[in-house]
Amino acid sequence: MVISAMVAIVPSILSYDQCELLRGVRIAEECGAQRLHIDIMDGVFVDNISFGPQIVHDLRRHTSLKLDVHLMLQQPVRFIERFIEAGADNIAIHQESSGEIIDLLSIIRQNHRTCALAINPGTSPMEELLPIVDEVVVMGVHPGFGGQKFIPETMNTITSLVEYRKNNGLNYQIAVDGGVTIGLAPQLAEIGTDIIISGNSFFRAPQQFVHSLRRYLE
Ligand code: DX5
Ligand code: ZN
Repeated sequence: MVISAMVAIVPSILSYDQCELLRGVRIAEECGAQRLHIDIMDGVFVDNISFGPQIVHDLRRHTSLKLDVHLMLQQPVRFIERFIEAGADNIAIHQESSGEIIDLLSIIRQNHRTCALAINPGTSPMEELLPIVDEVVVMGVHPGFGGQKFIPETMNTITSLVEYRKNNGLNYQIAVDGGVTIGLAPQLAEIGTDIIISGNSFFRAPQQFVHSLRRYLE
């Protein structure tokens, strides 16, 4: 099996000390990341509250990394435009959120940002959405918190998405988010994951995380 040497590592800043966020951003930059993952939680869609548009606005002024905004919101329609104005480059919407997902994805595209469809463990992606998304984010954990254990069935979802993309001539990227450890990252790359989002494992040993995946890919 040939693994793409282009597998991207996207650090998730949720796991970093929130009083030292900029230091986490610099670590991501030094490790060669192209994007930074920012988890937005409303305390309703998930059982936790994290960041709002202001942090995206402020980070935008301090880094040229692409800002990858993962909306874990019950009603994303209320906030999509505010995150776009704040400087989000890529926005992920959960299929399990309320509202017409197809319309929400269109708002993102019309604003010339890339859009992603995020799916929780146990959710199958709606086939009609796959041709219009730039990326599918397969959750490796039930969203809400960093540092959880990866749910192994996630592998099957990734494999099905790889197959579906091939059989239907589609181009979406496949990202995995949640529970990805240094040991797991190469296996995820091997089955066709394009983008690895990692919080706790990445920030625990950033250089080691990058080197171990790169070594495996070479
Ligand atoms: C989970 C978040 C993830 C999380 C990843 O709800 O969407 O992005 O920050 O962190 P780890 O890698 O620690 O699971
Ligand atoms: Zn996330």
